[in-house]
Amino acid sequence: MKKAIIFYFSGTGNTERVLNMLTNALDYEGVHSNCYAIDDCIRNGNIPDISDYDSVGIGYPIYAFNVPNIVAAFIKKLPKANGKPVFVFKTAGEPFFLNRASSYYIFSHLRKKGYIFNYERHFLMPYNILFRYNDEVVKQIYLLSQKLARKMASDLSKGITHKSHFNPFIVFVSLIFRIQWVGATINGRLLRTGNSCNLCQKCVKECKTDNIRLEHRKIRFGWNCTMCMKCIMCCPQKAIKAGILEPWAIRGAYDFERILNDASIPNDYIQKCEKGVFQYFKKYVRETEAQLNDNI
Ligand SMILES: Cc1cc2nc3c(=O)[nH]c(=O)nc-3n(C[C@H](O)[C@H](O)[C@H](O)COP(=O)(O)O)c2cc1C
Repeated sequence: MKKAIIFYFSGTGNTERVLNMLTNALDYEGVHSNCYAIDDCIRNGNIPDISDYDSVGIGYPIYAFNVPNIVAAFIKKLPKANGKPVFVFKTAGEPFFLNRASSYYIFSHLRKKGYIFNYERHFLMPYNILFRYNDEVVKQIYLLSQKLARKMASDLSKGITHKSHFNPFIVFVSLIFRIQWVGATINGRLLRTGNSCNLCQKCVKECKTDNIRLEHRKIRFGWNCTMCMKCIMCCPQKAIKAGILEPWAIRGAYDFERILNDASIPNDYIQKCEKGVFQYFKKYVRETEAQLNDNI
């Protein structure tokens, strides 16, 4: 692979961070990449010409074991391709095996259009919903993702494949959890600003789907939410109520720069963890570390 076009969606920035890790690593491997945000392509009604590239990359965050509805809509718009290879990178808050189901939608739709799905990697990044990860975990999984991005870039440059296998159970999970697309639309309408809202309109400017507007000195939410949580995370006043997702809302972005630069934060927390949810991340860390040494 010498030249790749990469389409990505990132609500709260994790997938974009992995994209940057990957494009830096591809650059190092001598692979040139051009990147386009899926929300921009949809907003402008314009998909860049892919014919000049020898590979197409797709990056997205996993939502309820699936692709976000905005990514599904974009995949439908991609042109037919005659045997063009596709690689996928996806970010998620946990290494749970059902997350594998998320790329089945991309696989099945792009195969019909003539693409060849031959490389995929799952990157563990901090949850942007449910609960906030502690600094130690953020640091460790970020550094691991960085190494995995280097491995992915090295594999892609050499034409090494890393395919997913979709057994009937995974396909079933993928189909069932597409229900979240309806959930996103309905929950989007339930978002509200509380009394602390000062109408700064940061949410209006940052919304990936232009779903938030100021009307009669009130913030209004439309029918086009993709449930990315960006508005809730970025609101300086922490004023947005997340509808039915309110109990799991996380407010305020992760401060990656501070965490990575703070030498007092260890980077091997997970291996030492004996209780709580993070002990279940040990297997992912072990298996990912092992894969890093394959075929380099
Ligand atoms: C609506 C929603 C559903 C999610 N579902 C899952 C999930 O099924 N599995 C998972 O591991 N993480 C899940 N996550 C967490 C995100 O996939 C994860 O934090 C991701 O890295 C966010 O990427 P972004 O910052 O690029 O938007 C979910 C997040 C949201 C907002």
